[in-house]
Amino acid sequence: MTVHFIGAGPGAPDLLTLRGRDLIAACPVCLYAGSLVPEAVLDHCPKGARIINTAPLDLDAILAEIRAADQAGLDVARLHSGDLSVWSAMGEQIRRLRAEGIAFTVTPGVPSFAAAAAALGAELTLPGVAQSLVLTRTPGRASSMPPKETLANFAATGATLAIHLSIQNAAQVATDLAPAYGEDCPVAVVWRASWPDQRTIRTTLAELVSAIPEGVTRTALILVGPALGQEGFGESCLYAVDYDRRYRPQSANSPWADWTDGDD
Ligand SMILES: C[S@@+](CC[C@H](N)C(=O)[O-])C[C@H]1O[C@@H](n2cnc3c(N)ncnc32)[C@H](O)[C@@H]1O
Repeated sequence: MTVHFIGAGPGAPDLLTLRGRDLIAACPVCLYAGSLVPEAVLDHCPKGARIINTAPLDLDAILAEIRAADQAGLDVARLHSGDLSVWSAMGEQIRRLRAEGIAFTVTPGVPSFAAAAAALGAELTLPGVAQSLVLTRTPGRASSMPPKETLANFAATGATLAIHLSIQNAAQVATDLAPAYGEDCPVAVVWRASWPDQRTIRTTLAELVSAIPEGVTRTALILVGPALGQEGFGESCLYAVDYDRRYRPQSANSPWADWTDGDD
């Protein structure tokens, strides 16, 4: 028996990996985080599967379901929204499974920041503008932040920030970021990226709070940084006509002329 943790993607049911889909179809038990996982993904469950929304359950109750499946020899598909590597609560579940000797696998999913960038048609790492992306959040009712992980500290790098779980703290976000990025810094808010009712809002730090329409709550990302400004960046060397690289050596003397290892 194995528990398969599967990233269910940001919302659109076809933004699920083929591996994830096939695992869901092969598991007679499915536990899904009902607050964000799209119901349509559950259509892949086999007929007669035991399907449980874990939103109202605590960790002990979730483990009890997994233990029961283990005793019956039934594989479990465990679905969380987006990708599992960020804010999925997979870590604490895996710790319990390891302690109990229950096998598990992890199948990644499309994270919400990637779906939000796609909705905007934006690259978040533009040459000469921003070459780092910080996935972060602000403190919530149930989660404090480690003391050094402040927005002001991240802002000091000038990187693009993808701020999760924070739409209700938009005023504080703007206040904390303005000193480093400037009031005119471009901001995008993406609500329910990839869902049919997806909304995108482009604004600035100064206008952020007033630009958020009523109803844009909870499932939203705030993206901040000069890379959201779209224009005024250079082209990368990668496709430059005269850039010497292993797949396009510019002369017989190029260090890449005899290169045969295709790992780039
Ligand atoms: C508990 S976290 C889950 C993150 C998820 N594991 C991921 O890979 O994106 C929930 C937060 O992710 C963001 N989020 C999740 N799905 C989203 C979507 N479709 N559109 C915009 N933001 C989303 C929001 O900031 C939301 O508050």
